[in-house]
Amino acid sequence: MGIHYKKTDAYLFLVQDIFDVILKQILGIIGGGQLGMMLTEAAKKMPEHISDVIVLDPTPNCSAAQIGAKQIVGDFKDKNAILEIASKVNILTYEIESGDSAVLKTAESKTTINPAPETLRIIQDKFLQKSFLRDNDIPVTDFVEITSLDDLKRKISDFGYPALLKARRDAYDGRGNFKIKSENDVEQAFNQFSGKPLMLEKFVDFKMEVSVIAARNTKGQIATYPIVENIHENNILKMTIAPARVTKKIALEAEKIAEETMRVLHGAGVFGIEMFVTERDEILINEIAPRVHNSGHHTLQSSKTSQFEQHLRAIIGLELGDTTLVHPTIMYNILGPDNFQGKYKMPEIKLDNIYLKMYGKEESKPQRKLGHFNVVDENNTKGIDGLLESINLVKDGISPIPA
Ligand SMILES: Nc1ncnc2c1ncn2[C@@H]1O[C@H](COP(=O)(O)OP(=O)(O)O)[C@@H](O)[C@H]1O
Ligand SMILES: [Mg+2]
Repeated sequence: MGIHYKKTDAYLFLVQDIFDVILKQILGIIGGGQLGMMLTEAAKKMPEHISDVIVLDPTPNCSAAQIGAKQIVGDFKDKNAILEIASKVNILTYEIESGDSAVLKTAESKTTINPAPETLRIIQDKFLQKSFLRDNDIPVTDFVEITSLDDLKRKISDFGYPALLKARRDAYDGRGNFKIKSENDVEQAFNQFSGKPLMLEKFVDFKMEVSVIAARNTKGQIATYPIVENIHENNILKMTIAPARVTKKIALEAEKIAEETMRVLHGAGVFGIEMFVTERDEILINEIAPRVHNSGHHTLQSSKTSQFEQHLRAIIGLELGDTTLVHPTIMYNILGPDNFQGKYKMPEIKLDNIYLKMYGKEESKPQRKLGHFNVVDENNTKGIDGLLESINLVKDGISPIPA
């Protein structure tokens, strides 16, 4: 025996259903690593807007799946897999920039994609990206396209040494860069990239690397987070200091450049904008990531709105959240130690003002990003120096050990 509804009840249920479908959307994410995982966590805190999360990732039981996202196991560049996820979600976004933008363009007929595939196409090619910025009067270092070894030899003599030869696409953690220090390196540098599309950049004598996490929602509203300072080791981000130890003038200038970038880019979502502060206190954009960014992980504890919530707000067209930095915070990346590969465990730690986030990766590999922790100045009394002292006390103890 079923339950009997009056006609009006049935009508109300129908209205409720339609309402739910309109308001609650299924979110799709291309990539289910740590960024996809933290986006999924943010989505779960917005059940009134997002009903479900599906990720596309090649690793079975990826980080995002471990915390409840449904997963399609497949490659980020697999056309069928992209079309499959697009057909299952109301809104599609990404945690990695290497998705196939041509395929994504065709998938736009099935779902809304943010940032737009066209924005992704420009950003995922470092040469197109820098050309776009330069055309819009946004400051970048000098750069040129390189089409052959002879072309490189000619152009590098104009640039002088050192200069950076970069793979235009699919580069990360410095793996697509070769610093050419003298004429003797030129051939080796070129051959290392075996036929990949390349560009050459003037070397920037920077005194600090900084970034601004910026957001633009589908209605064109723009918000930026305060500038942070990034410390790299072996080309991998080691630590982010929020806020950056720069003058107010530099902070304002960087945030202005970030805002201008968001205005011309037209994409909806959160973007990580990496910049250099030069010896002469100029700001140059190094590169833009069309996604949430490692240097924004501090926002999980430091800010009113995390970058993950902000990204979701931006792509589904909600008002952007407050980007105020409430507590100075340092984010420290937990990287796989160099001396082993395999299953690992983490020591138990419970320390005041320290927030550990592990990404659920089964195996440690040298320099693999396994997690991070934020050290938070919760009473706003320690200052950056105090936070750095805390990091030095705990960092060696918060490290993976072979299981
Ligand atoms: N033109 C440059 N001059 C000096 N250092 C640079 C330049 N471009 C990149 N670098 C350094 O190399 C690092 C990695 O370069 P980047 O282009 O950001 O590549 P990736 O995509 O691997 O992050 C930067 O964080 C910076 O330290
Ligand atoms: Mg970079």
